[in-house]
Amino acid sequence: MSYLIRPIVPDELRAFAQVWERAFNFDEKDEELEALKKTFEFDRSIAALDGEQFVGTGGAFSFALTTPGGSVSTGGLTAIAVLPTYRRQGILTDIMRYHFDEVRSREEPLSVLRASESTIYGRYGYGVATIDAGFEIDRRHTNFAAKLPTPGQVRLIDKDEARLTMPAIYERLIPLWPGFLSRSGAEWDLYLLDMEHWRDGMTSNRFVIYEEKGEAIGYLRYRAREKWEQGHAVGELLAAELMAVTPAAESALWDYAFSVDLIQTIKTQSRPAEELLSELLADPRRMKIKRGDGLWARLLDIPASLAGRRYASEGQLVFEVVDSFLPDVGGVFELEGGPDGAACRRSTATPELKLDVAGLSSRYLGDGSFRLLHEAGRLTGEVEAVRRADQMFGWDRLPWCPNYF
Ligand SMILES: CC(C)(COP(=O)(O)OP(=O)(O)OC[C@H]1O[C@@H](n2cnc3c(N)ncnc32)[C@H](O)[C@@H]1OP(=O)(O)O)[C@@H](O)C(=O)NCCC(=O)NCCS
Repeated sequence: MSYLIRPIVPDELRAFAQVWERAFNFDEKDEELEALKKTFEFDRSIAALDGEQFVGTGGAFSFALTTPGGSVSTGGLTAIAVLPTYRRQGILTDIMRYHFDEVRSREEPLSVLRASESTIYGRYGYGVATIDAGFEIDRRHTNFAAKLPTPGQVRLIDKDEARLTMPAIYERLIPLWPGFLSRSGAEWDLYLLDMEHWRDGMTSNRFVIYEEKGEAIGYLRYRAREKWEQGHAVGELLAAELMAVTPAAESALWDYAFSVDLIQTIKTQSRPAEELLSELLADPRRMKIKRGDGLWARLLDIPASLAGRRYASEGQLVFEVVDSFLPDVGGVFELEGGPDGAACRRSTATPELKLDVAGLSSRYLGDGSFRLLHEAGRLTGEVEAVRRADQMFGWDRLPWCPNYF
């Protein structure tokens, strides 16, 4: 069965949100919807209708995505939901086709998303492009093996000062870190809204900055939970976001998190797979690390995507991409790239490697391994070409995406 798909207007947001409420099992507060109205791109919204009733939803944010050595515009798929009574009739598949057409019409070379379940999006050509590596640590095991010199100071600030200070620090990291997404002013407002039901019983947001010579070069946003057991404090501190421009700033902010009294456990949400802290701690095994998929990417214009990043080593590669969902996206391509830039075009040469679009997308930001795809039977070709591809696609900083959308 096929349903009408169209964008919505702001007055329809409440009815549209009912689909998410039923699909994700939560109640959307009016205040949250009002804040969302300022970030939601209504011209990119996607509603599937059965008559007058919204039965499926989606949308996209217009992000700039940092790639290794560059930046590309991308459509960040969001708000995907289908009413429980309309599931498994192909509505999501229709929404995905609509989204891909819309992204391509805007000449964004790829789509990105965060997935509620890892079984959903591979069939549409998405691959896992960044890893989230959150950790938990007992405060009794947070001694540093060696302390970095931290000439600056840590200062607790209020929400208004945080709103003014944090974006500039985040902006300084954007060009350095593949996987980072741009954050608009309205997105920062939404992000700091701090709704009661986002807190899971913890405190409201606390903000700390690290300053050197009066300049803020790192921030920590955290929450805490007061907890007592048999007369002893066993509180928790959630380091919700820590961003630092220098290793000294990062070290000073962790030092602060580990110094808060009455806390026993420090937890994080999404953190990079390469964590400076594991090199600073005297007993790094005490970090209980939980790895999961982060940002998923789906290339829709392979030449533009691949020319939108740089490569760790100078090289040339001819490869075939199979795209069963959007066959016209696939084909044979020739990539010539290096640390100073790259060009990619369709080619009639014999391909050295052959893989599907999800496999290529998973390597786009520099994470993953063509060797493992080869060993898993998802990439064919000579070992020498696989090795060359890995040397080119790797980068000196593993990608990480700190955004939820
Ligand atoms: C995920 C969701 C949007 C799927 O919608 P849907 O309209 O039922 O999906 P479709 O009917 O188009 O399914 C297409 C294919 O994906 C499969 N599929 C869909 N959802 C799946 C899931 N959660 N797990 C495994 N497979 C899934 C279907 O079985 C179907 O496979 P087939 O093509 O081999 O038959 C819907 O189940 C939902 O709203 N879930 C709760 C909210 C959610 O998790 N949203 C995603 C946010 S990132």
